Amino acid sequence: MESAQIVEPATRIAGELRVPGDKSIAHRVLMLAALAHGESRIAGLPDGEDVAATVACLRSLAVKIDRIGGPARVHGRGWRSFSPPHGPLDCANSGTTMRLMLGVLSGSWVSATLDGDASLRRRPMGRVVDPLRLMGASIQSKDGHAPLTVTGARLQGRRHVMAVPSAQVKSALLLAGLSASGPTSVVEPVATRDHTERLLRAMGTDVHVAAGTVEVRPSHQPLRPIELSVPGDFSSAAFWMAAAALRPGWSVAIHEVGLNPSRTAFLRLLESMGAEIQVDADNTGVEPHGSVTVTGRRLRAVTMGAADVAAAIDEIPAILIVATQAEGTTLIEGAAELRVKESDRLATMSEGLRRMGAVVDERADGVTIHGPAKLRGATVESKGDHRIAMALAVAALVASGPTTIEDADCVAISYPDFFTDLQGLAK
Ligand code: S3P
Repeated sequence: MESAQIVEPATRIAGELRVPGDKSIAHRVLMLAALAHGESRIAGLPDGEDVAATVACLRSLAVKIDRIGGPARVHGRGWRSFSPPHGPLDCANSGTTMRLMLGVLSGSWVSATLDGDASLRRRPMGRVVDPLRLMGASIQSKDGHAPLTVTGARLQGRRHVMAVPSAQVKSALLLAGLSASGPTSVVEPVATRDHTERLLRAMGTDVHVAAGTVEVRPSHQPLRPIELSVPGDFSSAAFWMAAAALRPGWSVAIHEVGLNPSRTAFLRLLESMGAEIQVDADNTGVEPHGSVTVTGRRLRAVTMGAADVAAAIDEIPAILIVATQAEGTTLIEGAAELRVKESDRLATMSEGLRRMGAVVDERADGVTIHGPAKLRGATVESKGDHRIAMALAVAALVASGPTTIEDADCVAISYPDFFTDLQGLAK
């Protein structure tokens, strides 16, 4: 059942909270724990549907994962322990599940079909299938789209030069590289999130990073199990940071949130737009984490090019909302990747914001927003995209009447309690 949510304008946004665990880290640590030998303990796994899809895929391969109370326990038994699944592995809406599992399965001893929902079936998989095939992977696809059937094969490590920055593709290749003969390296056009590299190192793998190239060497020792506390998801927290930034004096503190520098470009952008940012970081452990407080101040427009977009790829919907309230013209270029996310985010955001009265020009590879705009309540569509539903809900806080967000239950993909938390912050 598709549900709509009505969001009323707020007189003030204030408060402090924690957000669900980081989805990117959760997918990776679950898969790596399955490949390790021994029991890993993972606290703070998020309850969202994307991570549930990874858990379900691993369980279908006969990986034992206990999630009842306390930290999740993954009983890893290595690459060779997977059993052939009884049916297709359902990655649901999760691109990270599909792309990373493809890397894991390419060098395994089983055959499996990875499938997903209508949105995932539309997303480009050639970017991961093609380089894996160059390593010797056996993958069948429908014109570079899911469903994908992978049959484990002997892989040969090699050097990959990526055309599009993508942490998912990089991670899939590094995961495949673990079971390949010889080193595997990935040259990135711009650095992307490095959670895979950090976890691999923490679990005893040889990972080298130099001059934009990441290299892994297959190890003769199995991966070591890990104990990890997953910090809050910065990309979920970004919606509250954006909400606080919308009006002078509004303020939100988010605690225990991930502060990996490859994820936090959004903070610098918000600051350059005028918001006040306070960070209290703890850099010990596998992933930096800590508290962030954002306080609204007078906002000005910002210009973003391809490298800025790549560094804040999941935060662009939130930036667009802030841009509607900023003085001047916000220009976002080099953002064509947003068209192949869970929805075409340039189109869905432009349409939603226009319905609310914003002045938006959409181009093939970006958008321009003329601010500040007086937003009005409207009926807007998420198109089943969790980040669009959350971004438009934040916009609704400064609109002049109630906003109806259609198909709003998709927030459960990454943040099931999003609307409850919104009620707690809105005064
Ligand atoms: C992710 C990488 C990004 C991001 C996605 C999660 C990851 O995708 O948009 O939400 O966990 O590696 P791309 O690799 O397609 O840029």
